Amino acid sequence: MTQPILDVHSLRKHFKGSGSFLEGKPRRVKALDGVTFQVLPGETFGVVGESGCGKSTLGKTLLGIYRPTEGEVRFKGRDITRLSKRASIRLKREIQYVYQDPGSSLDPMWKVRRILAEPLVIHTDLNRRAVRERVREMLAAVGLGEEHLSLYPHEFSGGQQRRLGLARILCLNPSLVVLDEPTSGLDVSVQATILKLFLDLKDRFDLTYIFISHNLSVVRMMCSRLAVMYAGRIVEMGETSALFERPIHPYTRLLISAIPMIGKKPGTGGEEAEGIGEPPNPESFPPGCRFWPRCPHEIEACRREVPDLRPGPDGRWIACHLNGGEG
Ligand SMILES: Nc1ncnc2c1ncn2[C@@H]1O[C@H](COP(=O)(O)OP(=O)(O)OP(=O)(O)O)[C@@H](O)[C@H]1O
Ligand SMILES: [Mg+2]
Repeated sequence: MTQPILDVHSLRKHFKGSGSFLEGKPRRVKALDGVTFQVLPGETFGVVGESGCGKSTLGKTLLGIYRPTEGEVRFKGRDITRLSKRASIRLKREIQYVYQDPGSSLDPMWKVRRILAEPLVIHTDLNRRAVRERVREMLAAVGLGEEHLSLYPHEFSGGQQRRLGLARILCLNPSLVVLDEPTSGLDVSVQATILKLFLDLKDRFDLTYIFISHNLSVVRMMCSRLAVMYAGRIVEMGETSALFERPIHPYTRLLISAIPMIGKKPGTGGEEAEGIGEPPNPESFPPGCRFWPRCPHEIEACRREVPDLRPGPDGRWIACHLNGGEG
């Protein structure tokens, strides 16, 4: 059996919340609350869910940008949540994160030449000439040219900034790349060329992607497997095609029925979309299943017990009291 490149177990990340005057102490924001999944080498693993469900927190906690409150992250078999500083710096080369907002992650005061060279100076022993060469090579790989080296980030379009962000991480020769909303804010034609670039780079550099998005159409096209997150937990996980053709969890059904299609208004896809509602406040999740207040099939157990993520049909994993939501 293929060993996973990433093995995440019961991962939790809680932040200090705002709290209220009457309560005295702030509540905790349970941005991630027990997330377990594996990613296989070479796959594109999608993470979807509404705004605030914890997608970016997941990406950042995997990389150690946030220290996990609890849980384990194994990368190539090693627990990376408890590494020495030195080991963690070395590891940071191998796992890279492409920020949701590429503009803000590129230093506005630096020219592209320096932006691309800096990670190589910090993380490698390459001499100046080798650094220059690698920078040029990666710039070309993402479809930019030497003429861009002396520009500042604000002189680039949104699509070009994505390319720049990619060139920067590719310089370090990563094996796992977390792409956080990699096409948000781009118009459809630019989106298509950037997605194609991701596919090309994946083959060329032997990459594994974690693809975070709330654009289900894009995820369907790009990802081999998919995890659906709701309020800090995975509620359903499986092969992308099976999940789209036969969504089992009521939340997945709601999400898929809300995909806008030509000739159909968003949220009019089926009876599920009727109860579309609002996601819960992460500082005070309802007891039991976090989805029950929006669920059209809710039963008494849903209000009491948090459902575990359990194996279902066709290799699927589902967290629902209704036998995978079909009851
Ligand atoms: N540094 C932080 N401090 C406190 N709370 C945070 C922090 N980062 C995220 N949160 C909270 O954690 C929850 C999950 O946020 P996160 O950014 O992971 O959501 P997301 O799924 O990426 O949303 P979006 O689709 O809007 O990007 C939110 O309630 C958010 O307010
Ligand atoms: Mg996010």
